[in-house]
Amino acid sequence: MRQAGRYLAEYRELRSRHDFLELCKTPELAARVTLQPVDILGVDAAIVFADILLPLEAMGAELRFEKGDGPRFPNPIRDRSAIASLSAPNVERSLGYVFSTIRTVRSELDGRVPVIGFAGTPWTLATYLVEGGSSRTFPHLMAWSYRDPEGLAILLDRLAETSIEYLLGQIEAGAQALQIFDTWGGILSRERWQAIALPPLMRILEGLPDEIPKIFYMRNCWHLIDLLADLPVEVLSVDWRLPLREVRRRLGRPMTLQGNLDPAALLGPVSEIEALAAGLLAEGAGGGHIVNLGHGILPMTPVENAKAFVAAIQNGRVP
Ligand code: CP3
Repeated sequence: MRQAGRYLAEYRELRSRHDFLELCKTPELAARVTLQPVDILGVDAAIVFADILLPLEAMGAELRFEKGDGPRFPNPIRDRSAIASLSAPNVERSLGYVFSTIRTVRSELDGRVPVIGFAGTPWTLATYLVEGGSSRTFPHLMAWSYRDPEGLAILLDRLAETSIEYLLGQIEAGAQALQIFDTWGGILSRERWQAIALPPLMRILEGLPDEIPKIFYMRNCWHLIDLLADLPVEVLSVDWRLPLREVRRRLGRPMTLQGNLDPAALLGPVSEIEALAAGLLAEGAGGGHIVNLGHGILPMTPVENAKAFVAAIQNGRVP
């Protein structure tokens, strides 16, 4: 999950001098930010500092990160005819900075912890590209999905194509596992997730080598969980809404789970964080478990609390 960012003073210091996209696009800086949580918190893996939306910019969609406003696409893609404005980029040329960051991070880590690469699913990318930014109700994307599902499928397919090239480039640069974020897949019903979001996702998963471990993350996925059990991935990463024991029961097949502390729990007292860490280790027992938050860390998280969580997990005993 997202582990770098504004809760770290060392990140805020760099951010005060560079905007977010500039940080992403300057490999020496992006590598430094990638390593911050490893050095400060002692986490057991690095996730490359980049963003799921960068490949959309590489395809020709103007992308802005405005203060307090989150990401914005000033020229959203809202129908079939607009798809023509997107290109199939040469990823080496347009996203090579991410590959350089991965190379730098690998070399600086020198095997200390593995490096995770990542991308968003076509559906989750489309929520931003079609709405023009973050949304709660996704009216433009939903309207398109009911009005012209075949046209939307063309867009999602184009996003899948670029994602495959982008992820292959990350593997070549040295990513040792890949995480695929479907943050907004859970807003769809089972039938519509299967019909709309799953085909372009499967295209990506099938376009990647079997040997690279794949982690699939979805928020709000309980109504889809048996479908996720069929994905060709090694790890399912889930939010905090269900205990891991219940997730395992619903999956119906052995699968490594990643998660799932509520990020808001890190805002509470350390004693409570330690109790929750012990509970999480107990919940995850009985199968592979990568301890993680259930979503990105909140900017107001006290760094001491994040450290206490990592230490409690690393010193804890799996029952
Ligand atoms: O640990 C890491 O930081 C790894 C890099 C990473 C970022 N974003 C950096 C980032 C990763 C893995 C992501 C994933 C991402 N980005 C997702 C999927 C996971 C999730 O959170 O659901 C999504 C949906 C995005 C899109 C995105 N990027 C949004 C909606 C925002 C604004 C929200 C916010 O917190 O301001 C971003 C910005 C962003 N991406 C920041 C970081 C560190 C904050 C930028 C800043 O202002 O400094």
